[in-house]
Amino acid sequence: MNQSWDPKLYSRDAAFVSNYGAELLSMLGSAEGRSLLDLGCGEGALTEKLLSLGWNVTGVDSSEEQVRAALTKGISAKVMDGEDLKFDKTFDCVMSNAALHWMKNPEKVLDGVWNALKVGGIFVGEMGAYGNVESVVQIASNILMEKGFDPKEFNPWYFPAENEYSELLIARGFVVESIQTFRRPTELPGDILDWLTIFAQSFTSPLKSSDKKIFYCEMRERLKSQLLSDEGKWVVDYVRLRFKVLRLV
Ligand code: BEZ
Repeated sequence: MNQSWDPKLYSRDAAFVSNYGAELLSMLGSAEGRSLLDLGCGEGALTEKLLSLGWNVTGVDSSEEQVRAALTKGISAKVMDGEDLKFDKTFDCVMSNAALHWMKNPEKVLDGVWNALKVGGIFVGEMGAYGNVESVVQIASNILMEKGFDPKEFNPWYFPAENEYSELLIARGFVVESIQTFRRPTELPGDILDWLTIFAQSFTSPLKSSDKKIFYCEMRERLKSQLLSDEGKWVVDYVRLRFKVLRLV
């Protein structure tokens, strides 16, 4: 996958990601004396909230740039591939917000989370569900097909249906306490070009550098009728999958 992260741009244009993620924290219970792995911690905005609540937190992310930014906030963060986690019964909790959909091998992720948890540990997560940002996926795919490319090769996201993900969790041994899918139309703080430039890079990977901006602008034009409100706000068609599962053995 072709995706790089700029922590400054991310903090400016995607702060809503960690703001929404704060809703997950109430599912974790008390922080007292408990350790937590933040899987896909990014530049550490939500990890900082966990620290302030008293969690003993470690963050991991596959992006060196994001981990460097997290370290400057005093967070204990490491560069680590979410599909190859290297922990052994280390944490009371694993929490992941808006990161699991970037990992296209969910079985590998769930193996690593299982191994990272102590017996009795909990795993709380939120990710894009089946149908998430469907308008964006459709339009990017249409433009790529018109240019003769196979869009499946460049789609960086894994958005599972609830029953599919439930089955994977159960197959790995987790007990599912709750799992739900819900729509959350999400108003962007600025123009959708900023969002596309941060999140949709992978779709432009077969293009010359000079054509990438043109691709985003074409997407913007075609998305207007679906995502631009009468008030001039961009509202993206997010659909979330949220769950809490337990490792009991
Ligand atoms: C999400 O959080 O669902 C998401 C964010 C950016 C791109 C795709 C999905």
